[in-house]
Amino acid sequence: MTRILVLNGPNLGRLGSREPDVYGNANLDDLRAMLQSAAGSEASIDLRQTNDEAELIGWLYEATDAAAPVILNPAAFTHYSYALRDAAALVTKAGIPLVEVHISNPHARETFRHNSVISGVATGVIAGFGFDSYLLALDAVLRLTAARPE
Ligand code: DQA
Repeated sequence: MTRILVLNGPNLGRLGSREPDVYGNANLDDLRAMLQSAAGSEASIDLRQTNDEAELIGWLYEATDAAAPVILNPAAFTHYSYALRDAAALVTKAGIPLVEVHISNPHARETFRHNSVISGVATGVIAGFGFDSYLLALDAVLRLTAARPE
């Protein structure tokens, strides 16, 4: 069974109470349950969150070494972390899908959110659909991995 790493960056541990007008009322436990129920027996969902850039980079090494597809919400790191970009490139250059997701649509928000340093090395980007951004990313990953030999 495919293991999919669903990695979340800084402040996403506060989902549920953080800016509900932007991010909604559901939390990461709700997201994990939603994704696992959508994946059924096709994939296991390994959802994690950290505020620590180094830890997130370590998880991308883990994905590379395990050939595990990644759904990544880099949160604010999206906009400035070249270190995270380089680690994300390790995943996709190894031929492993990495889908960048955002709950909100960063392009409809402050100017500093309009640029992503991650998108250029991601397999694709999904933004602006609330938690459904992750569901759409899961669908994309399952389609991509169905075409790949184990
Ligand atoms: C976010 C958008 C980022 O700009 C922001 O820093 C986040 C969340 C999103 O999911 O909409 O923390 O990645």
